[in-house]
Amino acid sequence: MTGTNIRGAHARRSRVLITGLLTAAMLSTGTAAAHAWPAAAPNDEPTVIAHRGASAQAPENTLPAVELGTKADFVEVDVQMTKDGELVVIHDTTLDRTTDVESKYPDRAPYNVGDFTLAEIRTLDAGSWFSDEYAGTRIPTLEEVLDTLRGRAGLLLEVKSPALYPGIAEAIVAELDGEGWLRANPRSGRLIVQSFNWDFMAQFNSLAPKVPAGLLGGPPSEAEMAELSTWADQINPNHNQVDAEFIDTVHEYGMVTWPYTVDDPARMGELAGIGVDGIITNHPAVLIEVLREGPGLRDAA
Ligand code: G3P
Ligand code: CA
Repeated sequence: MTGTNIRGAHARRSRVLITGLLTAAMLSTGTAAAHAWPAAAPNDEPTVIAHRGASAQAPENTLPAVELGTKADFVEVDVQMTKDGELVVIHDTTLDRTTDVESKYPDRAPYNVGDFTLAEIRTLDAGSWFSDEYAGTRIPTLEEVLDTLRGRAGLLLEVKSPALYPGIAEAIVAELDGEGWLRANPRSGRLIVQSFNWDFMAQFNSLAPKVPAGLLGGPPSEAEMAELSTWADQINPNHNQVDAEFIDTVHEYGMVTWPYTVDDPARMGELAGIGVDGIITNHPAVLIEVLREGPGLRDAA
């Protein structure tokens, strides 16, 4: 089988499997959706996740980046909340790095996302810092991202600094539900919510136990993993923290791991070779090519 065929066959099989498992998990009642995800079988290739959208090609966490990211299996974005309680997609907790807020609102330092209304945030240019081509690009709402992804790619939704935003868990669940992402149908089935704040994720899991839960950072010790695996589905550390032993331990506890952020093709191949379940990258097209070529896949190692 050629590299192209390997990728195509595995991707199709993974998509069917993941969609089915997530649908089953979301339909289940009672406790958490833990163990909804299988450990990757030998020779399965990693899921491709576009970090902040295809953020090497377009300004991070904007609709153009999300649009380009739909070539991946999943798109990762960061969600926060405005002063008036609207959900917006942006990485930093302040607006100054990726917008022209300092020139538009010079008196509003330190430019916290949570100090601005949605209407104010929508006046900002979130594209010019990246390149002139994207001048005038706006910070999107979560709703716009959901609409862009629907039926095209899965969503890995990171809740950024949730302690800053009381009520954000409830707002996210309401938005996902209102947009149909919590219904068990093929258009809504691929969703994971993750955060570096594990206490928040435990709270979110209590609120929405059918949504697969990801834990960023760590990694946890094996003893911690035993407890976390009773409700969490993914452990997603920095890729420098990941080796074959860690992956095996995650799998032993019925979870999967999608480390971040891997842009070096050689490292992508290494991680694929030791059986990682997914790779979060700013360069999804490069990762797709690495997987198509096949270096590092278990059967080639
Ligand atoms: O999804 C992993 C990654 O997004 C976590 O880091 O800082 O890019 O949100 P950060
Ligand atoms: Ca993120």
